[in-house]
Amino acid sequence: MNKKIAVIGAGNVGATCALYLAEANFADIVLVDIVEGTPQGKGLDLTQAGPVRGYNAMVYGTNKFADIKGADIVIMTAGLPRKPGMTREDLLTKNADIVGSVAKQIKKYAPKSFVIVVSNPLDLMTFHMQKVTGFPTNRVVGQAGILDSIRFRAFIAMELGVAMTDIQAVVLGGHGDTMVPLIKYTTVSGIPISELIDKDKIKAMADRTRMGGGEIVKLLKTGSAYYAPAAASVDMCKAIFNDEKKVLCASAYLTGQYGIKNIYIGVPVILGANGIEKILELKLGKKDQADLQKSAKTYKEHLKIFGY
Ligand code: LAC
Repeated sequence: MNKKIAVIGAGNVGATCALYLAEANFADIVLVDIVEGTPQGKGLDLTQAGPVRGYNAMVYGTNKFADIKGADIVIMTAGLPRKPGMTREDLLTKNADIVGSVAKQIKKYAPKSFVIVVSNPLDLMTFHMQKVTGFPTNRVVGQAGILDSIRFRAFIAMELGVAMTDIQAVVLGGHGDTMVPLIKYTTVSGIPISELIDKDKIKAMADRTRMGGGEIVKLLKTGSAYYAPAAASVDMCKAIFNDEKKVLCASAYLTGQYGIKNIYIGVPVILGANGIEKILELKLGKKDQADLQKSAKTYKEHLKIFGY
């Protein structure tokens, strides 16, 4: 294949991204990790699954960043995952070092690429990636809103016993405990969920969504979620790659939208061949607007901790 997607980090999220990308069969994949043998072994294993899974995409594992040369899209997954009891923000300093050094390599070897950041704390690491690469903000985007909204969609489907794919949900704000699920825009085939589920249950599901990553960390004990985060990342990758003009929530750089500027935070965007092609500004109710401001304020304070 003559198109190439680079996945940085061959841990659970990175390797699962490589799997979903291979099955989507639209580009070869370069899987990069600093641990010797891991990306090569997983790459070979994934490539060998191709004949029965029906794909021809090659997954090439490497320890050399130079191999991402020519990548159209880079998915950044490297970094430490949470342990039980940790917030995503507890990972700040360690992962900022990792993201900073990878950003320099992306700038050097794939200067025209689009970067999808998955490393946590997500909104802060996306900001850091954009600053260190110096890429235009439309080319650096954080994956969170899809993940948070698919969690909400799954909980609603479990409650109602209906098809998950019929549920639409919008979750704004930072990818952390301050995220803002928008009940007003959550529907089942166009029917507002408030018509189908009572208020307290909706609130409980929104709260569970907010803590959705932590729930999985607690169960796994040794790391965080990876199937749904990887699925969300690959969905964004496809939207850019195929110029889908998909409307989804992602961490985007705001320049005054929603009264917020100079940070990355989750908002609805149009994602296509130019990356973030547009940020959609919704009219928010008072409480949602206040919650979004609160989320933004938290991130502004965290950015100060690491010198921005
Ligand atoms: C989660 C982590 C990956 O939400 O941020 O599962």
